[in-house]
This record gives sequence, C-alpha cells and structure tokens, in this order.
Amino acid sequence: MKTLTNSVALDAYWMPFTPNRKFKAAPRMLVEASGMYYRSDDGRDILDGSAGLWCVNAGHGRKEIASAVAAQLEGLDYAPSFQLGHPLAFRFAERLAEIAPPGLDRIFFTGSGSESVDTALKIALAYQRAIGQGTRTRLVGRERGYHGVGFGGISVGGLVNNRRAFSTLHGVDHMRHTHDPSRNLFCKGPPEHGAELADDLERLVQLHGAETIAAVIVEPVAGSTGVLLPPQGYLKRLREIATRHGILLIFDEVITGFGRLGSPFAAQHFDVAPDIMTTAKGLTNGAMPMGAVFTSRHVHDALMQGPEAAIELFHGYTYSGHPAACAAGLASLDVYQREGLFTRAAELEEHWQRNLLSLQNAPHIADIRAMGLVAAIELSPRPDDPGSRGFDVFVDCFEKGLLVRANGDTIALSPPLIIDRDQIDRITQTLFDILRKTR
Ligand SMILES: Cc1ncc(COP(=O)(O)O)c(C=O)c1O
Repeated sequence: MKTLTNSVALDAYWMPFTPNRKFKAAPRMLVEASGMYYRSDDGRDILDGSAGLWCVNAGHGRKEIASAVAAQLEGLDYAPSFQLGHPLAFRFAERLAEIAPPGLDRIFFTGSGSESVDTALKIALAYQRAIGQGTRTRLVGRERGYHGVGFGGISVGGLVNNRRAFSTLHGVDHMRHTHDPSRNLFCKGPPEHGAELADDLERLVQLHGAETIAAVIVEPVAGSTGVLLPPQGYLKRLREIATRHGILLIFDEVITGFGRLGSPFAAQHFDVAPDIMTTAKGLTNGAMPMGAVFTSRHVHDALMQGPEAAIELFHGYTYSGHPAACAAGLASLDVYQREGLFTRAAELEEHWQRNLLSLQNAPHIADIRAMGLVAAIELSPRPDDPGSRGFDVFVDCFEKGLLVRANGDTIALSPPLIIDRDQIDRITQTLFDILRKTR
C-alpha cells in the first residue's frame, strides 16, 4: 500500500483527470489555504496562480463564506427543491439576476459546470420544441471547446481525449476553433484576425438547414484547451448569425464568469448577449459545489406555458439550490462586490499582460496570450514527447512554490482576483527561472 509520511493511504481514491499511478508514486498534497497561498504537506507556501481550478476568485479561506455556510448548515442543512422551496435559493437567484447581463435574469441552479452545460443544452431543446420548432434538435459546439464531462458536454466539446473512449450524442457538429498562430501571436487581448471563423455556423446552416439546429455553445474565452482568446468581432458575428437563423446562443462562462476578464461576465465584457449562460466555479468562490444557468426571459417564458399544474421542465438535481451552496454564493457575491473584484482584473490587466509578455524571449516559448487575469504560456513541445515539457514546468513550479495549470504544453494562469502586482511579478520571475533551466 502506498502511503505518505503522515500515513494517508493513497490506493482507494481514484483521482479525476490525473495519471493516478504517477501521482501516487510522487504525490503533491495541499493541506491548507489562505489568501493567495496554499500550504503543502511539507510546510511550503505555494502561490496560487490558478485560483485552484479557475474558481477561487476571492482568494482562499474567506471567513465570511465559511461562517455563512456553517450557520446555514446548522439552521437548514438541506431542503428539497422539487415542489418545495427555501428563501435562500430565491434570494440568491435575485442577487444573481441583478448582476447578470441585461435580460438573462431567470436562473436554474445545478451542482457543477458540467451539470450547467447539460442543463443549458436541454433547456435549448425544450425551448425550440415549446415554440413549435421541434425539428431543431441539432447542437453545435466548437473544436477544442471544453464543456465539462457529461455526455452533452463531451458531445459539444472538442477535446479529443475527453471524447475518444465514449459515445457521444447524435446530431452534433463543430465549428473550427479560433487559434491561428500563422496570423495571431503574442496577443494582449482579442487577436486581430479570425472573426470570419464565426461563419462556420453559417456553413452548418447551409449544410443541414437552420430548421434542424437548436443551439450553438462556445466558451467566450476557451479555457481548458489552453486559453484561446476570441478574435476581434468573432462573438458579435456569431450572435448575428445565430439570431438570423433562430439558433440559441449559449455562452459557457464557467471560467469567464465572476470577474475573470474585468466585468462580472464575458457577455458584458464583449458586449454580446447570449440567450443562455452557464456558470459554476466562481459562483461560490469554489467553496461549495454549485452551478447556475442564466436564461433570457424569452427562453424562460416560452416554457412557462400549458396547464399551471404541469411541471414545465422535467429536469433538476437533488442539490439544485442547495441551502449551504446558496449561502456560500451569497457570501461570495458580498465579498466580490464589497472588494470591487468584478472589475479588479481590468485594473491589473495592463500590468499582467506586460509582465507575462516579457517572457516572450525566454526559452521554449511558442506563444503567449493574456487578457483580464487569465493567460496562456504556450511552450513548444519536445519532438519526442509532446506534453512532457508542460508537465515538467508544472511540477518545477510547484516545487518552487507556484501553482499553475498545465494543459499539454500550455501553462495556463488564472490567479485569484485579489492578486497584487508583486505577486504577478513573482509568477513571471518564477516561470522565467524555470524555463531557463527546462530541457
Ligand atoms: C468552460 C467550462 N465548462 C464546464 C466546465 C465543467 O465544470 P465542472 O468541472 O464543475 O463540471 C468547465 C471546467 O473547467 C469549464 O471550464
């Protein structure tokens, strides 16, 4: 049996998205967190350059959130959300509606980003049927998209490793991804070229007929594939094509939501209104598992039809609107708003971009992309072993006290929004030192 020095047995836990055997041979364990730092089991402080998994936007160990959750668990630990309610879920939905992009103010709670995506796809299908467009069953995603791990999410998603071992939904198409290093490299903010890639949706309309397509889903900034920024004008063009053909536009804002780009949501940042928006992660500052799907009035209202005694949408989760998750979410919103965190990424963006782009001449750099408080440092792969350089840099960073994400050979950064300028400098310096020594 594999054990750690403090004798935690490692065998039973089947870890997600992890090479289990490799990890268990040399574990990296986190035991505490506060502010911008994790603490490892060997007592080192580790600067969190990734907000956990893109979720701890207000930093770690926020007392307000912890006490709200504790109080809620003592007062009302759980309440069913089917045919019953509790005030916090209504209050939280109301508060979210206040910060939502205009009109996206009907909110369905889920337990995660994956559940939010599957919920959004199902709402889109139910909506088309409700308005007499039942032939619209086709869904459109994008290559290199990540929409979680449910069957809906992997079907519209475009990451081959997440798809190849599993069957996917029928009637799903993919637009091309927007990464074009031949025209866009080292971008601060949206790249100049590539708006015309949105016309892929138009081509799918020409191929299948608009009357077969229910919805198109994209991440405004594609995160998990290695931070791909949308070309200038791309999202607006996608919106226009979708509107022209009666196709619902879904923004997957699981990463971009709650301040990552310097506005509450990417929809506001890019001034493009989707019909449906999926969120999770920063919704509760990562403190409780929860997701929320924001839908526009016209989508919601189209489903509020028929006999009043009839359930309008046959969908929901045991943990939809969980009281403790709502408490965490409300307390997180208070922190975000009180500390101005929804706009903090905009204040730091210039410093962030200048610092990270200064790595341009470090060894192994293929591209750097930075926007808001998110960035990708794409390394050229080792010819004999793609992905290994990114992984080695991730491990070296961890050992030097910096947490980053490696997506293949791309290092992704998305620190808590409370980061200060010195900490940004430290991220850059650590990466520079490590890249100089990396094979
Ligand atoms: C854009 C996007 N959608 C969906 C998900 C899935 O979220 P979860 O892991 O909470 O299911 C993620 C997770 O990283 C994501 O980045």
